[in-house]
Amino acid sequence: MQKTEKIPYRRERMSAVSINLQEQIMENHVTFYMEGEKETSVFHGKFLEKWAELSGQGGFRLLVGMGKDEDRESGRVREICACAAREMKERDIREFSCDVGPIVSAWGQEVLKEAAEGIVLGLYSMERLSDQEEKTWKAAFTGIPCDETAQRLIREGEVLAGAVIFARDMVNRPANCLRPEDFAAQITALMEGLPVETQILPLSRLREEGMGAFLAVGESSAYPPCMMVMRYLPKKAGESAGDITALVGKGVMCDTGGYCIKGSQSMAGIKGDMAGGAAVAAAIYALAVNGVSANVIGVIPMCENRIAPGSMIPGDVVRAGDGTLVEILNTDAEGRLILADAVSYALRREHAERVVDIATLTGAMARMFGNSISGMMAQGEEFCQKFLAAAEYTGERFCRVPWYREHEKMIKSEIADIKNVSDSCPAITAGLFIRHFAGEKPWIHLDIAGTADVDRPVFAWQEKGATGVGVLTMYELCKG
Ligand code: BES
Ligand code: ZN
Ligand code: ZN
Repeated sequence: MQKTEKIPYRRERMSAVSINLQEQIMENHVTFYMEGEKETSVFHGKFLEKWAELSGQGGFRLLVGMGKDEDRESGRVREICACAAREMKERDIREFSCDVGPIVSAWGQEVLKEAAEGIVLGLYSMERLSDQEEKTWKAAFTGIPCDETAQRLIREGEVLAGAVIFARDMVNRPANCLRPEDFAAQITALMEGLPVETQILPLSRLREEGMGAFLAVGESSAYPPCMMVMRYLPKKAGESAGDITALVGKGVMCDTGGYCIKGSQSMAGIKGDMAGGAAVAAAIYALAVNGVSANVIGVIPMCENRIAPGSMIPGDVVRAGDGTLVEILNTDAEGRLILADAVSYALRREHAERVVDIATLTGAMARMFGNSISGMMAQGEEFCQKFLAAAEYTGERFCRVPWYREHEKMIKSEIADIKNVSDSCPAITAGLFIRHFAGEKPWIHLDIAGTADVDRPVFAWQEKGATGVGVLTMYELCKG
């Protein structure tokens, strides 16, 4: 058995940037302009257009375009600020100020949150395992009154960006540096000192719970599976009895496909198959740090999908924790197997009222929607509308995918209750497989296979590699 490279997480990475509000501008300074406001032959203020000039003694002034007012959409301020921050990062300018006055007067104070996220994420670089020193940055917002609401919004944005950074760093970590138990340990450390109860269900407990679907995958590796449970329950019973939202994230630390082994071309990025789990932990972290009043639990089934002498093969039938008999026809469709047991555990054992699952689940969804839109399926109109409103607010893009009776039939098994693959509609039936375990409860399914990782950034606040998709929207959904 290969030795695991143990790498402690450098939490400073989540707070490498600090943003404060001040009156005075610094030597290095960013100014934002609406399109058409400052017409010169070199700079027009077009969205994400940049112009740099020297100021005073060696200082540096950067103009960044905001685009047209009518083109305003959520996420835009995050991009404008990230664009400015990236420029500073490239020049290794560690202290700078931004005049956010024009942004706030155009789009309101609330966008300060996005602005802070943009600055922090724009300065993010992929975690390097070989050098231990972290760069730190000081940014200042100028041009707005220094009130308490502004401070609070900036702080909230900083925390959210920090959470996204944690999720990204976990996804970018090589699988041999992050076994299931290491991932659980990192999350336990992340929650230290926060009002979040963490529990790790070890292999023996998974067996006691009869989680045959999860174990079919988990027992394919010499590195044992475990299930991480996080409970953030700030609202007392009575006031909110039974009112728990469960966030359930896929935690496949690496997905080789198992006996239905992936081709070498499809192996790139298999270490990132726990992006859903990372997003869940990050969202709960942000809720707890920001003291949001909502009862939320997180459940992350953690395992590897490999080949072991006795591991599952196509044709096997296993019994899930809720009693459902599952026919396994493809060992590479492992995400739904582990999520089945995690979702039913959240509802049956933790008494959640509604559930969100988030997973790098299907190549089909990725091919359909590319790197910027995640697929979404939902049951329960009210919950669905709340989710879409949250997504509208954050600017993360989700597209709702429908299903009908004919799709429900596609996962019926001749020999068992349901099977883990269908002959057609692979993205839809993957979601429906998980839905089976949510019963009649409000359910949202997020398939982030295409959006969790990017070769080339789509938005200015992204970097090559993990994106941390889902963190912001799940946070806003729970915040309500
Ligand atoms: N983790 C993969 C899905 C995936 C593919 C994520 C590409 C990111 C990029 C998942 O476990 C998987 O292998 N899905 C199969 C399912 C199929 C066998 C029904 C797929 O989509 O090909
Ligand atoms: Zn797979
Ligand atoms: Zn997978």
